[in-house]
Amino acid sequence: MTDTLTPVLTARWDQPDSFTLDGYKRGGGWQALPKALAMDPDDLITALKNANLRGRGGAGFPTGVKWSFLPQGDGKPHYLVVNADESEPGTCKDIPLMMASPQVLIEGAAITAYAIRARHAFIYVRGEALHVVRRLRHAVDEAYAAGYLGQDILGTGFDLDVVIHAGAGAYICGEESALLTSLEGFRGLPRLRPPFPAVAGLYACPTVINNVESIASVPSIVANGADWFAGLGTEKSKGFGIFSLSGHVTTPGQYEAPLGITLRELLDLAGGVRAGHRLKFWTPGGSSTPILTDQHLDVPLDFESVAAAGSMLGTRALQIFDETTCVVRAVLRWTEFYEHESCGKCTPCREGTFWMVRVLERLEGGHGTEEDLEKLLDICDNILGRAFCALGDGATSPITSGIQYFRDEFMQHQKEGGCPFDPAASTLWSSQS
Ligand SMILES: Cc1cc2nc3c(=O)[nH]c(=O)nc-3n(C[C@H](O)[C@H](O)[C@H](O)COP(=O)(O)O)c2cc1C
Ligand code: SF4
Repeated sequence: MTDTLTPVLTARWDQPDSFTLDGYKRGGGWQALPKALAMDPDDLITALKNANLRGRGGAGFPTGVKWSFLPQGDGKPHYLVVNADESEPGTCKDIPLMMASPQVLIEGAAITAYAIRARHAFIYVRGEALHVVRRLRHAVDEAYAAGYLGQDILGTGFDLDVVIHAGAGAYICGEESALLTSLEGFRGLPRLRPPFPAVAGLYACPTVINNVESIASVPSIVANGADWFAGLGTEKSKGFGIFSLSGHVTTPGQYEAPLGITLRELLDLAGGVRAGHRLKFWTPGGSSTPILTDQHLDVPLDFESVAAAGSMLGTRALQIFDETTCVVRAVLRWTEFYEHESCGKCTPCREGTFWMVRVLERLEGGHGTEEDLEKLLDICDNILGRAFCALGDGATSPITSGIQYFRDEFMQHQKEGGCPFDPAASTLWSSQS
């Protein structure tokens, strides 16, 4: 059995009081903030750059570099916004993190706000996740009562208010510019960039927006040093991350490991694909990342290697599908999600996702043709790189990669006049399917 787990963020999740301030402090929590407040904010930004933490929300942009983009001495308020929308199908790391260890996120937010000279931080939580909203609000109350938030924090003169904001449950509100628009009280539609949030973000002021896991990684970097963090992972993808295994796997769950671990190693830790079955396909980072197959079991799960294999590391949401799963059905399901979540602002995505679902329904029902596959690829070609935001691009990933690896299976539906798979065998489809 491989033993490559590096529990840092997940280290105390099994403690019954891990979510309380006392429980967090007992495990060494809230020790990074005093250290950070004794530093110059610019030195903190440099430390994050040296650690080379790359954004854990999907795109992998270097966090310290993002912070350094904020203009200094501009006289405007600066804002920190934590992206806790987590709506990508398969992605399920931020919600468990916030439930089990909300204090680490709040400590990370306090350090980040100090570094970027912000006095207000917002945590934007997906609307449906009411339990998370409640837990975070309680955690924020505890942090205020202990003097870690509010006025003159730890007697240093640093002030910070943290607001937990519940969204209304739209996938597009995880896209950073739509999130900011939604936070301002408007319908969550993406904004044209430039200007980027670092220059004109929330309320047209300089704003840093980072994923939950990115911000939650900050206290450990400050406490242990940039070299410690940069000593983990691969040459260009430093540190550790939470890998979420779901689907046809014996022990689904969160596995925190250095970037660069492979799916083979993770499956080894998770007891393998469910008994009696074999891996057919998987997503490395949620439904917006092109699927991979059993040929890719040894691809290091870092940003560069997954890109070289034709996909994206994304959110490390590893959805595992065995040989009982119909790939056409899976692709249709994902595409229905994108059709539903398309905000409708731009034509390629609004119209494209609608028509892709219609064509996929035909194919799944056994009435499709080879021309339908070409039509699908043509629609994808008209969305990819032509849509207003990355939701459109993501919607093409399951289709193009599904056809790339399983073209014959699409056509098998036509030959057999319907889906050749037994939905009951897969166990992944709900009773409504
Ligand atoms: C449709 C869509 C949904 C997204 N959803 C999320 C999300 O739920 N959480 C998140 O952190 N980033 C999400 N992102 C990425 C954000 O736009 C942004 O890149 C990220 O919050 C930056 O944080 P990071 O640099 O710490 O990764 C989404 C992007 C798109 C296009
Ligand atoms: S790509 Fe889709 S989600 Fe993004 S702006 Fe266009 S219609 Fe809206």
